Amino acid sequence: MPQEYSPFTPGQPVPVEFFVGRSSEVQEIARMVELASTGRFSIGFLTGERGIGKSSLASFVRYFGEREHNVLGVHVFLGGVHELPEMARRAFDRLLKESIDRPWHQKVRSFLGNHVRQVGLFGITVEFAASSQDLQQAVHDFAPSIKRLAETIEENRKGVFLILDDINGLAQSEAFANWLKSLVDEIATSAQPCPFCLLLVGLEERRQTLVQHQPSLARVFRLVEITPWSDGETRQFFEKAFASIHVRMAPGALQTLTTYTGGFPAVAHEIGDAVLRVDTDGYIDARDALQGVVSAADVIGRKHLEPQVYRAIRSERYRAILRKVAREPFGPQFRRAEIMRRLPPAEKRVLDNFLNRMKRLGVVVPDAERGRGAYRFINRLHYLYFWMEAQRTQQSRV
Ligand SMILES: Nc1ncnc2c1ncn2[C@@H]1O[C@H](COP(=O)(O)OP(=O)(O)O)[C@@H](O)[C@H]1O
Ligand SMILES: [Mg+2]
Repeated sequence: MPQEYSPFTPGQPVPVEFFVGRSSEVQEIARMVELASTGRFSIGFLTGERGIGKSSLASFVRYFGEREHNVLGVHVFLGGVHELPEMARRAFDRLLKESIDRPWHQKVRSFLGNHVRQVGLFGITVEFAASSQDLQQAVHDFAPSIKRLAETIEENRKGVFLILDDINGLAQSEAFANWLKSLVDEIATSAQPCPFCLLLVGLEERRQTLVQHQPSLARVFRLVEITPWSDGETRQFFEKAFASIHVRMAPGALQTLTTYTGGFPAVAHEIGDAVLRVDTDGYIDARDALQGVVSAADVIGRKHLEPQVYRAIRSERYRAILRKVAREPFGPQFRRAEIMRRLPPAEKRVLDNFLNRMKRLGVVVPDAERGRGAYRFINRLHYLYFWMEAQRTQQSRV
C-alpha cells in the first residue's frame, strides 16, 4: 500500500522514535558524555561493519547526551575527507549550522569570529569559511579551541560532545594518527578541566590502521563495538515500525522478515521499505513478506554490494547452486563439504569455481582455525544477500 509516510529510512541514521536496541552501547557512550559534562576528557572509538548502525547510534547518543547531560553535540560526517584542514573546516561548519536556532547561536558565531559567511539568496544560510592557512592553524590549536568553545557556552551547556563520523578516509593517514596522539597528550598534561568527549566512528580495519601508526592510541580509546541485533530486537523494530503506520502482520510474515534481516539494520530498512511497496491491503501476509525480501535483495545488491560481487552472485552460471543451497540454510561460517552434499555430481565443480571466485572477490575467506574446507563470509551483508538471492532463485523456478 503506498504510504505517505514511511518509518523506513534506508541509508539514513534512524529517527530517535524508531531506534531499537543497543542499550549497553548507549549507556557506555553516555557515561563518557557524562564525564565530559563534569569537566573530564574522554575519547572513544565506535566500530562495526558498514550498515550495522554506527551513525544511528552516535546520533541517538548525541540526542540523549544533549537532553540528559546538557552537552553541546556536534555530529560531523567526514566521508571522502583525507586531510586534517578539511576535517577542521567541516567540524566548525557543522558547529555553526547546528547552532542556528539555539540560544547560544550568537556565542558560537562570535567564537568563530570573522570566518562566518552568509550564503544563499537571502543570506539565511551560514557557512564557516577560512583560508587554508587559518585551517592549518585550527588543526594545530584544536584542543585549546574546544576548551575556549566550552567556556564560551558554559552558561548554556556543560561540555562539548564531538562525533567524527565516517573517518575511514582520514584514518588511513599517519597525519591523523599523529594529530590524535598530540591532542590526547596535550589534554592529558594540562592541569585544567576539559569538558570534551570525542567519539570517532569507523570500520574496525581503520581503527587498526590508526593504531599501527600510533600504537599508544590503542590504550587511549574506549572501544565500543556494534554487533548484529538479536532476533528479538529485529522483531521489535518491525513491530514498532509497522504499528506506527497501522499496518498489521501475520506472525509467519514477521518471522520471515526477521530471518532474512539477519540482525542487520541496513537490511531491515530495505526489507521494510520493499514490503510496504508490495502490500496492497495494510496487512502483511506470508506472500507479501517473501516478495518484499526478494525485491529488497535486488535493491541491496545494487546499492550496497560491489558490482563484481553482485554480478557473480546473480549470474546464470551459479543459479543452480544457489537453488540447491537455498533448501537448508547454513551460517556465515560453513564447510565446503556441507554444501557439496546438496549438489549433484555435475555441479560439484561449479561449486569450487564459485568458491574461488568469491575468495578472489574478498567475499569469503578460508577459515584456517576451523580446519581444511572451512570458510567464512567476511561481511555479513554479503552473507545475507547470498540468502536473499538463493530465495529469489528458488522462487523464480516456480
Ligand atoms: N538502532 C537502530 N534502530 C533502527 N534502525 C537502525 C538502527 N541502527 C541503524 N539503523 C538503520 O540501519 C541503516 C544503517 O544504519 P547506519 O547508522 O547508517 O549504519 P553505519 O553508520 O554503521 O553504516 C540506516 O537505514 C539506519 O536508519
Ligand atoms: Mg555511518
